[in-house]
Amino acid sequence: MRPVILAIESSCDETSASVIRNGKVLNNIIASQAVHQKYGGVVPELASRAHQQNIVAVVNEAMETSGISKTELDAIAFTRGPGLMGALLVGVSFAKGMAMALNIPMIEVNHMQAHVLAHFIDDPKPSFPFLCLTVSGGHTQIVLVKSHLDMEVIGQTQDDAVGEAFDKAAKIMGLPYPGGPLIDKYAQSGNPKAYKFSETVMPGLDFSFSGIKTAFLYFLRDEKASNPNFVEEHVNDICASLQQHLVNMLLTRVRQASEQTGIKNIAIAGGVSANSGLRKELKALGDKQGWNIFIPSFEYCTDNAAMIAVAAHYKYLKSDFCSLDVTPLARMPL
Ligand code: KG4
Ligand code: ZN
Repeated sequence: MRPVILAIESSCDETSASVIRNGKVLNNIIASQAVHQKYGGVVPELASRAHQQNIVAVVNEAMETSGISKTELDAIAFTRGPGLMGALLVGVSFAKGMAMALNIPMIEVNHMQAHVLAHFIDDPKPSFPFLCLTVSGGHTQIVLVKSHLDMEVIGQTQDDAVGEAFDKAAKIMGLPYPGGPLIDKYAQSGNPKAYKFSETVMPGLDFSFSGIKTAFLYFLRDEKASNPNFVEEHVNDICASLQQHLVNMLLTRVRQASEQTGIKNIAIAGGVSANSGLRKELKALGDKQGWNIFIPSFEYCTDNAAMIAVAAHYKYLKSDFCSLDVTPLARMPL
């Protein structure tokens, strides 16, 4: 049952490794880096150092729990970009060392393409063409997916990513990093109609999330002027309203993208696709519009090597290997 591929992900603050055999993911080992919490965001140099500390143990665990010996591997896959240069370098260098030692080919994977391909880990798998809203800490894209490896970005943010908007709003409220999951948690007990925020509307299918940060900062400043305990007293309603606002911005564009392309297979991917408000609202909108909705399991929403492994599987089938002098790319188009 071939091919057997080891995949490594190290683009941001998760060190992850996964083994895939004949398209079936056998495991997905993830070491998260707690070191960034006290700084309120990912510190690139610390991320790189933590990857170096974690990578051997993470890869060993992936190999051991797969029951496959290193000599049975057909290829080593790694995230080439986009991501933090120092973080990517650790994964790329490790993959090179292993590929050289085992004398097997390497497969470079685009992290954003892999987020989309996370839909091919489990069933049900979307059929082509489909639209994928890829929403993470670094990206917000609407992707037209024509086949496993043929994708086109038809809408994207012109400034901040939606995950950044979640995290920055959380930071303004004094919540720890990453704030997205915490906003989600508080929002579940709040009233999404309690507060309204203004929105910057971009042309076409593009997004802008930088304005919401400033609007949110001023909103809290004004409320706190009359009530210094405003955040503590109303945290659930604030989070629910902000989340509703961001989810509306995303889903408006998804609806327009579906209308423009006539595509009714709709998927979400990336860290923010773990958001319970987005998942719920997408299901409701999908029912109304007659869409087929695809939502990955939580494990495959945030950064993980299983999605890198699946992308590598399809590239292996096309003999799409890279040479040993490959270098990481902080920016890497789809
Ligand atoms: O895909 P990901 O793990 O890493 C990047 O490639 O960026 O996404 C991380 C982002 C962070 O901004 C985090 O706050 C956000 O995903 N996130 C969430 C939730 N879980 C993760 N945002 C809102 N609600 C969530 N439940
Ligand atoms: Zn990601």
